[in-house]
Amino acid sequence: MAKGRSSIVVTIFSTTSGIGKTSLATNLAAGLAQEGYSVCLMDLDLQFGDVCNYLKLPHEKIPTILDAQDALQKDPENFDIREFLTDYEGHGVSFSVLPPPYKIEESYRIDEQGVLSLLNTMDYFKFIVVDTKADFSELNMHVMDVSTIINFLCVADFVPAIKNLKSGYDAILRFGYDTNKVRLILNRSNSQTLIDPNDVETILGRPFYYKICNDFRSMNESIQSGCPLILSNSDSRLRKDIWNLVGLYTNRPPEDSKSSSKGGFMNWMKDLFRAG
Ligand SMILES: Nc1ncnc2c1ncn2[C@@H]1O[C@H](COP(=O)(O)OP(=O)(O)O)[C@@H](O)[C@H]1O
Ligand SMILES: [Mg+2]
Repeated sequence: MAKGRSSIVVTIFSTTSGIGKTSLATNLAAGLAQEGYSVCLMDLDLQFGDVCNYLKLPHEKIPTILDAQDALQKDPENFDIREFLTDYEGHGVSFSVLPPPYKIEESYRIDEQGVLSLLNTMDYFKFIVVDTKADFSELNMHVMDVSTIINFLCVADFVPAIKNLKSGYDAILRFGYDTNKVRLILNRSNSQTLIDPNDVETILGRPFYYKICNDFRSMNESIQSGCPLILSNSDSRLRKDIWNLVGLYTNRPPEDSKSSSKGGFMNWMKDLFRAG
């Protein structure tokens, strides 16, 4: 945990795009908010961020991270991050969103120090969920440094993705991240492929912390409706898997589900302090 930070910063990272980061980030933010925590969802996929699309927020009309960064740099004394956050509201649940720049070219004006300073101004949230772009950019590295938890999202359904997964996880180890804070989460765990997740665990040298099932229809219906699956009345196993994953952060006992994990948030906290 970053020293002096009171928010729990949960970053969703992967080494391949299109594998479910934004789906997980929006659902995690919604699930934590549903349990009564104050949550901000920050979209750091600066050029092709989908958070606004997935939540049906009018990206072109609302303040973005660029507006916030500019304002903070211009007048730090009078800066109030709340003026730049937009609330997602649905099914009686509300959480804040900080969107990426609206135009692709504006992404070049976002810098790492600006993002870290913005994160500091958001420290009043209990959880800050950060969605990212799939790369080891300077920005992602800085954000992972200050993250409490890095959810490293994996899929085991095509060979290049597994190659990227292996080289990415090896890089994480080389960079010296506390392995307690890195969680390998297998998405689309039961997709119909010839690649056995157990073999992927062997390649990585570490078991998956949690597995989320494959259900393209449920996820896609939720994206099209603009309502995170976790807030819907779907009785799908996918919703339950995500609900149980959220419970690992809030120490809530799991609903019946076939998903598996290696212990709850409190166990993780205990491990962290033992390690420290
Ligand atoms: N568990 C899942 N089962 C089936 N489809 C999924 C699952 N998670 C995500 N998807 C689908 O994968 C696609 C890419 O998801 P997205 O969250 O945008 O990925 P990323 O942010 O990593 O690029 C979307 O169409 C989404 O519906
Ligand atoms: Mg995305």
